[in-house]
Amino acid sequence: MEEERYITSTLNKKDECLDSSLRPATFDDFPGQTKKKEQLQIYVQAATERDDPLDHLLISGPPGLGKTTLAHIIAIARGKNIKTSSGPVVEKPGDLAGLFYSLEEGDVLFIDEIHRLSTNVEEYMYSAMEDYYIDIVLDQGAGSRSVRLDIPKFTLIGATTRQGLLSAPLRSRFGLHIRLDYYPASVLAEIIVRSAGILGVQIDDDGTAEVARRSRGTPRIANNLLSRVRDYAQVKADNIVTGSVAAEALAMLEIDDDGLDEMDNRLLEAILYKFQGGPVGIKNLAVAIGEEVGTIEEVYEPFLIQEGFLNRTPQGRVTTLKAARRFGVENTELTGQPGLFKAE
Ligand SMILES: Nc1ncnc2c1ncn2[C@@H]1O[C@H](COP(=O)(O)OP(=O)(O)OP(=O)(O)O)[C@@H](O)[C@H]1O
Ligand SMILES: [Mg+2]
Repeated sequence: MEEERYITSTLNKKDECLDSSLRPATFDDFPGQTKKKEQLQIYVQAATERDDPLDHLLISGPPGLGKTTLAHIIAIARGKNIKTSSGPVVEKPGDLAGLFYSLEEGDVLFIDEIHRLSTNVEEYMYSAMEDYYIDIVLDQGAGSRSVRLDIPKFTLIGATTRQGLLSAPLRSRFGLHIRLDYYPASVLAEIIVRSAGILGVQIDDDGTAEVARRSRGTPRIANNLLSRVRDYAQVKADNIVTGSVAAEALAMLEIDDDGLDEMDNRLLEAILYKFQGGPVGIKNLAVAIGEEVGTIEEVYEPFLIQEGFLNRTPQGRVTTLKAARRFGVENTELTGQPGLFKAE
């Protein structure tokens, strides 16, 4: 069972090559997230009309939903360069100075996993974001002096899967905050059709729906599954992905029917079996499955709640009837309250 489930979670790992070849370059090519996209388009257009640099922007949301993609789309829409780095890579203030040095007026500095910036570096970021300078300290001890480095007016776009870990001072320096949600299957279907066009995969509506349904609301997983299904169709089905070909391919790969990944399953099973369906406090749950509270709250729960497997109640987390049925415990005596059941 454990091995079967491993596969969907590996599909959410980044395949940089596939990611970048399928990455849309314009808002029009980026389906879904309609309201957020509208906000961003207004923000880009307003700044363009005033000829101002864009306000600093924070994009949060679970992996594979399009944070990096949107940062690129915004830079392209402004006709500016984008420099990218990532929280753990920027170790010292000097690394930050190096990044700023390469920027031109209006450029986008994209920092992925921005919640992982060290406190030291983060403090330099404050003056950079607000007043476009940093004070670099030269030499240590008594003879120390600092040099001011002016930075062109740039736009910081920070991405994070864990907005809860961002310090309040850093968060408050972003003018705009966008949180991405999981995609409904109908939007994933649009994304799959577009990707199939780029990859030259022949796929019909049923095949598309089959892949969309199992993609955990995540474009990256949809693209990864599409390339797996394409391989299967090439070898076994004359290169055409129909509903039944997709179903066979995904069954062979042991892709979860509901699109849940290993950790989703582990979390639901823990509530069902260890805590009799709940309610269980988030801290106990975290210990039971060996995951951090924040990651559970920000990365796993939103999808499980959206799909109706889990509820948050004032007493704690409870599984729903749908979750109980999924694990074949529907014959268990139900207490009548949604989500609660007694284990046999
Ligand atoms: N709305 C969308 N339309 C089309 N493709 C999308 C969309 N959102 C994401 N993708 C595709 O999914 C893949 C992953 O997207 P992206 O790299 O932007 O995710 P991310 O949120 O930055 O993930 P991570 O947190 O892992 O860095 C890319 O190939 C991208 O093109
Ligand atoms: Mg990214």
